[in-house]
Amino acid sequence: MIRKGDKAIFKLEKLVYKGYAAGHILGQFTLTRGAYPGEVVLATVTKKKRDFLECRLDKVLIPSKKRVEPRCQHFGICGGCSWQDLDYNEQLLWKERIVRESLARLGGLSLPEESFLPIIPSPKIFEYRNKLELQFAQNQNGEIIVGMHPRGRFNTVFKLRECRLASPKISEIADVVSNIASELRLSTYNERKRQGLLRYLTIREGTNGFMVNITVFRRERELLSELARGVVDSIGEVRVVNYILNDTPSSTAYGMESGYLAGDSDLILEMLGKRFIVSPQSFFQTNTDGASILYQKLSEMLDLKGGESLVDLFSGTGTIGIILSDKAERVVAIENNPDAVKDAKRNAKINGANNIRFILADVKNALSKLITDGEKPDVIVVDPPRDGLSKKIISRIVELAPRKIAYISCNPTTVARDLKELSEKYRILSIQPVDMFPHTYHIETITFMEKIMT
Ligand SMILES: C[S@@+](CC[C@H](N)C(=O)[O-])C[C@H]1O[C@@H](n2cnc3c(N)ncnc32)[C@H](O)[C@@H]1O
Repeated sequence: MIRKGDKAIFKLEKLVYKGYAAGHILGQFTLTRGAYPGEVVLATVTKKKRDFLECRLDKVLIPSKKRVEPRCQHFGICGGCSWQDLDYNEQLLWKERIVRESLARLGGLSLPEESFLPIIPSPKIFEYRNKLELQFAQNQNGEIIVGMHPRGRFNTVFKLRECRLASPKISEIADVVSNIASELRLSTYNERKRQGLLRYLTIREGTNGFMVNITVFRRERELLSELARGVVDSIGEVRVVNYILNDTPSSTAYGMESGYLAGDSDLILEMLGKRFIVSPQSFFQTNTDGASILYQKLSEMLDLKGGESLVDLFSGTGTIGIILSDKAERVVAIENNPDAVKDAKRNAKINGANNIRFILADVKNALSKLITDGEKPDVIVVDPPRDGLSKKIISRIVELAPRKIAYISCNPTTVARDLKELSEKYRILSIQPVDMFPHTYHIETITFMEKIMT
């Protein structure tokens, strides 16, 4: 019998979702991080679950030929990248396989080979991220540092020196913020004592420069404004500095309130000839060039003729609805984040999209209202968060009976579950993976479906 703490030598067979390499020890399914298919490894069993063993990699005995030198000095410590030491084409190949396997195993869907379209690579494989979310902490000398948790260790922070996924300017800005905060003798938040000021630092890159958001535990406007002015004066590319107030115990960079501290402009991101203003707490795809491809592909798959009515669910800052509005007769966009809806309305205006109605609501409730109002959309686009769609949302979409559905997903597990449900009424025509997250295990897909006529 295999016990926790046992060591074993075994061969890895495949990559699976969440960045693990899967294999078998004495017939038992195992998951190990940091290893690749074909490799023979020495590993220790760290967890025994009902249907798998989790292992810690001790040593790669026979390495894969697909390994490459990682570029980032923090690779292995930082939890951001899982596969930076694996050849990029190999990453793409496994992402395609993971999508297929998810749909077959979790979705129980046996789709014809031609419905799986080849994955589209990211235009950039380094410096592609437009956003980094970092944490404030203090080092042994009492200086303020900004960094990340080492993988799986949430009570410590290492100082970020670089992140190869984002522009080097972002690490430079992080350094300037922490230096000025140290000079001003500001405090950092202590989770255990629930004291201190500075919690998270989020830096976003747009087409017109950078936005710096400082998540704080208290609203210390004077001190924060001094910090913000210092940042804007030191780095000309910083367009705006905001605070976000999170005075709750929850460990998140988001909060109930945000506000302007310094700077001269909103952050603007340009995609496919449109301009999007993004405020501190609104969602925006983190790979701007990758998102352009994603939305372009979506538009091609939908092939709108101009007379359609379209519903854009989980619409964020209005990107999808606005991009597709040129080709549709009218669009209804539904989103529950008030800041994002405010951005979306401004974005529609600056892009001259006057055929969109924005609804600030939970998708579930807004869909019920559309049903009672007798709406008959031709097309529904859904782009939910990682958890995917609830059964209620799926049944309401089915009740609205659009001819076409496009489902954008960042989670092959939940989309497989949801497609299983939708496939009773909708035929899956194609699944297009688009790589938005090189060196990580994250996978974005667009699934295009049409109503089965009965
Ligand atoms: C993956 S993002 C997609 C945003 C947008 N479609 C885009 O491409 O930028 C998901 C969005 O759903 C919103 N959201 C999450 N749960 C929601 C709900 N129950 N009802 C409405 N919107 C929701 C989030 O605020 C977020 O803006």
